[in-house]
This record gives sequence, structure tokens and C-alpha cells, in this order.
Amino acid sequence: MSEGNLGVEFDAAVGAKLGQARRILNRCNRVAAFSGAGLSAESGLPTFRDSEPDALWSRYDPMELASVSGFEANPVRVIDWYNWRRANYAGVQPNAAHRALAAQSRMIQITQNVDDLLERAGVPRQQVYHLHGSILRDRCQNSACEYNERIDPASPQPLRSCPHCGAHMRPAVVWFGENLPQAIWDRAQGLCLALDCLLVIGTSATVYPAAGLIELARQCGSRVIVVNPDPRAAADGGDVYLAGSAAAVLPALLEGFDLASHS
Ligand code: OAD
Repeated sequence: MSEGNLGVEFDAAVGAKLGQARRILNRCNRVAAFSGAGLSAESGLPTFRDSEPDALWSRYDPMELASVSGFEANPVRVIDWYNWRRANYAGVQPNAAHRALAAQSRMIQITQNVDDLLERAGVPRQQVYHLHGSILRDRCQNSACEYNERIDPASPQPLRSCPHCGAHMRPAVVWFGENLPQAIWDRAQGLCLALDCLLVIGTSATVYPAAGLIELARQCGSRVIVVNPDPRAAADGGDVYLAGSAAAVLPALLEGFDLASHS
């Protein structure tokens, strides 16, 4: 069997699951997406803990590069590493999965991703809940200062001091051991209390508290549809597991679905 959307062929098993997922979606009014690095993988950005050899945490120690203690121990190394990642971000484009999500004008995008590919695909900024911050901004390491600014990923600056208080500037991302931005986290949790369906896309669902949103939504009665090529993701408590890449599955799943027409 072929689902035949956009030239993408699915085998019979995935085709049947797609049908099942579409039937669920068509009964839903309140649908949100919860995404991770797999959503941007086909744009050319590496994931963190995939089996792929270029997965970031197979090549680098997260405690050295994504923690306050790592930054304090070697701030130049941390900034250089983020600037290398930023240079990669400058050259990538949204993929078909970002565009399929952006076509759902009312759908809130809860994402662990620090890129802006959902926004560049057309999702309004206020509809993207960045749980782990943004790699496209710098902020002052002194939390009392609150100074932050957008950076140009194509020409990021080396380690520098905050123009207001003199502390180090750092990427405005959430590091291990840090709290999520409270207002965004509150909004994401509030949303998951009252959903009909949560699309869980391209995440290993191993980093908390973000991953806890899946269970929260389920406990509150939401259906869960998981999109991920790794069969281990089927264990994420999904009602339907769609085995495939986000850029192949999402356009097929969402074709003809219009959340805005569901009241
Ligand atoms: P991970 O790298 O942990 O997981 C990526 C997931 O995407 C895996 O389950 C892959 O199987 C799946 N995947 C790979 N390619 C895909 C594709 N083309 N389509 C769909 N899925 C695909 O990334 P996250 O779950 O996002 O935190 O990781 C969570 C957090 O851990 C990140 O936000 C980051 C990291 O440390 C911070 O930077 C604070």
C-alpha cells in the first residue's frame, strides 16, 4: 500500500498507522506539537543522542559544554562550540516537517529545539514555546542583570562581557541543571492539561522536565501520536507510533487536516 503523498511512499504498516492517526486527528479540536532535534535533522542539524555518528552528545561531553560548571571552567571553549553550532544554523532551511506544522495556523508548537526553523517556516513567534531557549540570542550569565540580545549566527562574537554589568555573555539556552523559562513552561503545562491530541515529533523524550509533558497530556486525557524513525520511541506512551522521518510523515499526516476549521 502506498500513501502516495508528495511522492513519499509508505509501507503497508505505516500506511495503516497513518490512517489511524488521521482518524484520531479528525476528531480533535485541541492539537499541539511537542518536538525535539529530530524535527530539524532533515534540515541538516545534528541530533543529540541518536545512533547517528554525528549526534552531538556522542562526540562531546554535555557537562563540559552545556552546564554552568562547564562554562565557568572553560568559557572560551563553550562559546567557541556554540559559535560553531551557530555557523551551522546560519546555513540551514526549514524542511517539509516544519512547513507542514506551519500550515496548521492554530497549532501551538512546544519545542525543545533552540533553532528558529519553525518561525522561519511561518509559525507566528508567539505560537512557538521554546522550552530550552534560543541559540540565536545571547544573555548575561548574571541572572540578576537580564541583559540579552539577538546575535547574527553567521558572524557570532567570541567570549565577551555584558555591556551592562561586565559578567560574561552566554547563549540564551537552558543548560543541564538550570530551570526552564518559567513563563513558557507554565504555558506549556497549561496547554497540556487540556489537549485532545499531542503530536510528539523527533524527540528521545529523555530530558526532563520537558519530556514529562507527554505523560501530563496523556494523564489529562490527550491522545498521543509519535513520529520518529527509531522504534524505541514507540515506548513513549503513544496511541499511534508512526515509524518514519518527520519530513516524510508529517506532510502525509497533516495533508487535508486543518486545525483552524475545528472549533
Ligand atoms: P535527541 O537527540 O535526544 O533525540 C532526537 C530524536 O529524534 C531521536 O529519538 C531520533 O530517533 C529522532 N530522529 C532522528 N532523525 C529524525 C527525523 N528525521 N525525523 C524524526 N525523528 C528523528 O534530541 P531531543 O529529544 O530534542 O537540550 O533532546 C532533548 C534535549 O537534549 C535537547 O533540547 C538538548 C539536549 O541536551 C538542551 O540543549 C538544553
